[in-house]
Amino acid sequence: MSGMMYHMHIMNTDKGNCHKAFRNILVTGGAGFIGSNFIRHVLAKTDFKGRIINFDALTYAGNPRSLDDVAATYGERYVFVHADIRDAEAVRKAFSEYDIDCVIHFAAESHVDRSIVSPDDFVQTNIVGTFNLLQSARQRGDSLLRFHHVSTDEVFGSLGATGFFSETTPYQPHSPYSASKAASDHLVRAFHDTYGLPITITNCSNNYGPYQFPEKLIPLMILNALEGKPLPVYGEGLNIRDWLHVEDHCAAIWTVLTCAEDGSTYCVGGRAEMRNIDVVKRICSIVDRLAPPLESGAARETLITHVADRLGHDQRYAIDCSKLERDLGWRQAHNADTGFEETVRWYLSNMEWVDSVRSGEYRKWIERNYSKRG
Ligand code: NAD
Ligand code: TYD
Repeated sequence: MSGMMYHMHIMNTDKGNCHKAFRNILVTGGAGFIGSNFIRHVLAKTDFKGRIINFDALTYAGNPRSLDDVAATYGERYVFVHADIRDAEAVRKAFSEYDIDCVIHFAAESHVDRSIVSPDDFVQTNIVGTFNLLQSARQRGDSLLRFHHVSTDEVFGSLGATGFFSETTPYQPHSPYSASKAASDHLVRAFHDTYGLPITITNCSNNYGPYQFPEKLIPLMILNALEGKPLPVYGEGLNIRDWLHVEDHCAAIWTVLTCAEDGSTYCVGGRAEMRNIDVVKRICSIVDRLAPPLESGAARETLITHVADRLGHDQRYAIDCSKLERDLGWRQAHNADTGFEETVRWYLSNMEWVDSVRSGEYRKWIERNYSKRG
């Protein structure tokens, strides 16, 4: 441990906030992309000794098979509850049945394009669902040690060519998705300021890595490139996102959860800004290198197809994560050069998972294995 990290550890311990001893952590949306990576991270890579209760409605984006290995390895320390955060009674029941003392709230409708077409679910799940969780958390009184809300940098709106989002940036969401996440952030903070709920919030930039549903930019491009399908780039592809490996996001959440002060907010980012068109070209060249060539022999870049732009498309996101680095000693362990290649390799060797989420086969599997809770 470096001298500086040791100092951070002592500092946090002195504050009395580091390593809260949770026993029963409720993870909402744990069958999704980040939630499933988070559960694996906590059980495999931290000193947590308690139980994780994964509360997930298994929408199109949730796949319990992403946690088959976890269920097999951790036995009673991992519990799956098939239920919906829009259902206040189901939420209440889970809090009391499992004696919940910590919540990490991932469950959300998360895709901007879907929010443009049908915003209703975003309001119900992201706002009403969060409210239901806050109400049940509040009813736990002092037994509730932490409510961590996982949010996005999109609540801050869009940047021009310069500047960064930080914890003090005013909220200015543009899409129904980001507006619903902003509303949920405000509710979470209000429950701290009004009722003293021990909340923390992280606002993170775009994630990539294993188990991401192939409607988001990176997995969609990997799979289409592999299969020789068109690569739909919105507009000129000049919009900029800041990319972070999902494992680094999970480590940041755990750090904030266990070490940050009640009521605090942290921005999480990868210091890896890229134009969409450059992301797609990088993916193409990695797929060209790792996968069999296209039948035509053409480079995958030739599949790039510029399509109509997204409505209200935010131009640029970029995060200043220095507070998290300075206060809590978090550092990202991946970078885009190795992270993108690792991710392509993961998709190439997990085509069974991909086929199951795309074919609807896994939905039948869910129906067989998780009939509706009574
Ligand atoms: P995802 O869409 O992959 O997964 C969402 C999960 O929530 C799924 O398992 C789904 O079944 C579940 N869910 C949806 N509605 C539910 C409901 N009503 N009740 C119970 N469960 C429900 O999302 P993700 O990419 O893993 O994102 C997780 C969280 O992180 C979201 O809150 C999102 O806003 C936030 N976030 C995501 C990113 C990113 O790049 N993906 C970046 C920053 C923040
Ligand atoms: P996405 O992965 O949907 O994340 P977000 O909208 O939350 O940032 O999209 C990332 C960027 O890629 C965004 O600027 C929109 C763009 N994009 C495309 O150009 N083509 C696509 O097919 C998708 C899904 C996204």
